[in-house]
Amino acid sequence: MSRGLLEVVVVAASGLPNVDFLTDKIDPYVVVQYKGQERKTSIARGQGGNPEWHQKLTFRAEYPGSGSDYHINLKLMDHDTFSSDDFIGQTMINVEDLLGLGVENGSYEMNPTKFRVIGNDKSYHGEIKVGVKFTKTSDYNGDEEEFGGWKNSYGDESDD
Ligand SMILES: *[C@@H]1O[C@H](CO)[C@@H](O)[C@H](O)[C@H]1NC(C)=O
Repeated sequence: MSRGLLEVVVVAASGLPNVDFLTDKIDPYVVVQYKGQERKTSIARGQGGNPEWHQKLTFRAEYPGSGSDYHINLKLMDHDTFSSDDFIGQTMINVEDLLGLGVENGSYEMNPTKFRVIGNDKSYHGEIKVGVKFTKTSDYNGDEEEFGGWKNSYGDESDD
């Protein structure tokens, strides 16, 4: 089993529909979820359908895993000040191969790539450009006691 850091770079989106009929320009942000961890980008205020974030969000990851352990979910939302935020659409990135290659190579990076954003009605709601990088920080055999005091130079004692 290997552990490491998964860095998700949310670059920009384009062609997002205006889901808020009260304004000309939506205020989009992205909620990124990975294995029970959740991070958000800042709100691209007034940027409408073609927002830019250029933000890196970091998650803890392990390999191997199973099923949904390999899915990064990105949910695009429109921030509203006086009402609840509107859902724009979502996309999912499968990182199984990326994690496997990262464990083999020490690190592995997928350059920013465009993914289709899908709305609630399953229709095309624009696209989002995202890069992903995995960096291995340690290996263990399940029973960490066996290492008896050995520590990887990166450490990960803060892990829970
Ligand atoms: C493989 O690891 C090297 C050294 O860490 C890194 O420079 C390179 O980008 C990695 N390969 C890929 C495809 O990410």
